[in-house]
Amino acid sequence: MSKNIIVSNRLPVQIVLENEKLAVFPSVGGLATGMKSVHADGDGIWIGWSGLEETQLTQKNKENVEKALLKEKCIPVPLTQDNIDDFYLGFSNKTLWPLFHYFTEYTSFENSQWLSYKEVNEKFAKVVLDNSEDGDTIWIHDYQLLLLPELVKEHRPNSKIGFFLHIPYPSFEIFRIFPWREQLLKGMLGADLIGFHTYDYERHFLSSVKRILRLEVNFNQIIYDDRVIKVDSFPMGIDYDKFYNASKLKNENTQAEKSDLQIRLEEHHKSASGTKLILSIDRLDYTKGIPNRIKAFEYFLNQYPEYKEKVRLIMLAVPSRSNVPQYKRLKRETDELVGRINGKFSTVNWTPIWYFYRSFPFENLIDLYTSSDVALITPLRDGMNLVAKEYVATRTNQDGVLILSEMAGASKEMNEAIIINPNNFEQFSNAIKQALEMSEEEQNSRMKILQKRLKRYNVEKWASEFMKSLSNTNKNQKTVQ
Ligand code: UDP
Ligand code: G6P
Repeated sequence: MSKNIIVSNRLPVQIVLENEKLAVFPSVGGLATGMKSVHADGDGIWIGWSGLEETQLTQKNKENVEKALLKEKCIPVPLTQDNIDDFYLGFSNKTLWPLFHYFTEYTSFENSQWLSYKEVNEKFAKVVLDNSEDGDTIWIHDYQLLLLPELVKEHRPNSKIGFFLHIPYPSFEIFRIFPWREQLLKGMLGADLIGFHTYDYERHFLSSVKRILRLEVNFNQIIYDDRVIKVDSFPMGIDYDKFYNASKLKNENTQAEKSDLQIRLEEHHKSASGTKLILSIDRLDYTKGIPNRIKAFEYFLNQYPEYKEKVRLIMLAVPSRSNVPQYKRLKRETDELVGRINGKFSTVNWTPIWYFYRSFPFENLIDLYTSSDVALITPLRDGMNLVAKEYVATRTNQDGVLILSEMAGASKEMNEAIIINPNNFEQFSNAIKQALEMSEEEQNSRMKILQKRLKRYNVEKWASEFMKSLSNTNKNQKTVQ
């Protein structure tokens, strides 16, 4: 019987080895949190990197890691320190990530890292081939594995291969800068179906295929090597019920023991009448516009001083890729900005920004989402942004306001949010004021529509639509349907 295989660089769980003891942690990031529920419900396997460095493992540890991962229906791809430096921190996160997010000034092109990227994609191909048969359905994810579809297709001609990009696909004028552009596109074209979060990303990809590879493109189908490759947009959803039900349960069960965080959040609300909380949650990544957001909040406090002591920004920044210099610099800049603004505005009773540099377990994320009057999600560029959707799903009383950057893929489906250009501080500051002063009726009517849409197009639906479309692709099909 054919099986379903998910492949991504990061597995849904990370293994940490401390004093010869293994610990398993959930991975952060939209790909892992979103696909996790799809994987948990199915009977397929997930192939990816465990987060460990291969050569640090004894044979016994290696076996224990494999055993622990097998319990999660996962199979590891071993990476060496060189692979981690050149493929992961290097090519994936110093070249592809900044380029695809329009940060060209952060993008480096190193031939040795490109070679490592190819080598690691081949490593992934070997593990996929060792664990699959021709005819299995193989779903490959994200920018770390753009060459993998072609490498797998060569040996699995009868397998349906899907590819989904979780980050933006940039416009042709950006993508053309990339030195190995033909190879990258051909790598992706090994898939039978290529999916993006939005129609804009799909359009940019098709334009690169036409202009760089000079291939025939009919609507959303590409003719290549006697095959027809379908390209489409599938905006990723969330596990809506998981977030909604956890919040509902929490609101109803007032007798349950509260977390320390929840107690602090409630103290904030009691500190003065009418005080409000504004929430932001992101990985500490320059694409998320964190320094920009802090400066915009300062601008707001200067423009509307009546909000001093009345509003607090609670900012959760999850550590990410901290060995890449740009991320180290961002951490320093964020620390300094928070320090400067808290120093400038704080009073004995009030600090304007509560800043956490760590990750939180699910229960605490629910505490934050349900206790915040406004969510301020203002990336400078973001493939989708699931945090915006999670906030909406937890608002079981249909109150709360979402302020969302138009640069996030999610803004395409969340029109009822207050949509802003995060570079326009005037608009940014007015949006905060509008959100804080919005009537309950208006909050409810916006939330209702947002929730209805997110509930209907949840992550399960997203995955099933992708799979349905993938199973309808046909390798022998030569004409456009
Ligand atoms: N998240 C998490 N732990 C945290 C903070 C966030 O697991 O401490 C999750 C969050 O719930 C969301 C994901 O990380 O599902 C972030 O996804 P998003 O699409 O917003 O951004 P990405 O990190 O993929 O760029
Ligand atoms: C984004 C990317 C994922 C990545 C995640 C966390 O969501 O699209 O591919 O896994 O960030 O980043 P990391 O580098 O820790 O895997």
